[in-house]
Amino acid sequence: MINLSTNYMGIELKNPIIAGASGMSADLSMLKKLEQAGAAAIVYKTLFEEQINLESAQFDDQLEAMGGLHAEMTSLYPKLQHAGPEAHLVALRQAKETLGIPLIASLNCLYDNTWLEYARLIEKTGVDGIELNFYFVPGDFEADGRLVEDIHLDLVKTIKSKISIPVSVKLSPFYSNPLNFISRLDKAGVNAVVIFNRMFEPEINIQEIKHVAPFYLSHEGDYRLTLRYAGLLYGNLKAQVCANTGIYQGHDVIKMLLAGADCVQVVSTLYKNKPEHIAGMLSEMEAWMELKGYSSLTDFKGKLSKKELKDPFVYKRGQYIDLLLGSDQLLK
Ligand SMILES: Cc1cc2nc3c(=O)[nH]c(=O)nc-3n(C[C@H](O)[C@H](O)[C@H](O)COP(=O)(O)O)c2cc1C
Repeated sequence: MINLSTNYMGIELKNPIIAGASGMSADLSMLKKLEQAGAAAIVYKTLFEEQINLESAQFDDQLEAMGGLHAEMTSLYPKLQHAGPEAHLVALRQAKETLGIPLIASLNCLYDNTWLEYARLIEKTGVDGIELNFYFVPGDFEADGRLVEDIHLDLVKTIKSKISIPVSVKLSPFYSNPLNFISRLDKAGVNAVVIFNRMFEPEINIQEIKHVAPFYLSHEGDYRLTLRYAGLLYGNLKAQVCANTGIYQGHDVIKMLLAGADCVQVVSTLYKNKPEHIAGMLSEMEAWMELKGYSSLTDFKGKLSKKELKDPFVYKRGQYIDLLLGSDQLLK
């Protein structure tokens, strides 16, 4: 009997496949489909503080456009104001009531006080955990790297001390030393890390000489950076590791587990192959485990991690040199 269960953020999951945050995970009928297809948990679409601010500004504009009516309405209805994150919180509550599998909320704010305020509100919706989406795009030449890390770490510490549900961090790979930053997050008590956030990268259309924003799906196989870090992190953290980006098939999940991840998050493959694809990924995993004689994920998790390999050459600088020196073969 094959057992695919794993533990993530201290939550028991029936298998290692989580549907990651996306527009798909904010649609109630999609959530049900993902659950039916076998998703072990779902990360609800991120609540972005900018989105609230934008909606709030649009709301003010609409009232403004009503001219004199604005003053009249606000004096008639003094409590009339934008609902803030309320719509998102209602949707989270609804999703939680609908689903039988764990639901994780995702949050991305601009200011320390809103991070904490929204995290507290989210906790009250009954979700099983919160993923802090640290989407940081450098733009300030003066901001020291350590300062950026310290700000995020303080935030994690504050949120961890004020809420009791598990907290994970979805982070970018663009820290000078992601291992060090992840280790600091681990010591700050974070329950899990998601490696890595897929950063939006603009494209240029040279005919129209302007920027374009193509629909942003990853490609099958875009997981190699994550694979390396899963292998480096295994056995070094209390926090669990969730692998993300470019994971499309059951065999990709197996690779992540062999490297040492506890579970995976998938999004692009669900857009390309539909939610039902999860069932196929799980079957592929079961078939492989049966073939190899494994009955649970712990039988092979981390087998190809740096810690478990006798000669972890693949994780070292030497592999790079070796690869480059051997590249002459390509010319033959
Ligand atoms: C259409 C779309 C919407 C997304 N929305 C979010 C989001 O709200 N919050 C978030 O943290 N990540 C979001 N992501 C990123 C995914 O959660 C995921 O990290 C990324 O796509 C890499 O995984 P994948 O290769 O399986 O797609 C989105 C991705 C896509 C394609």
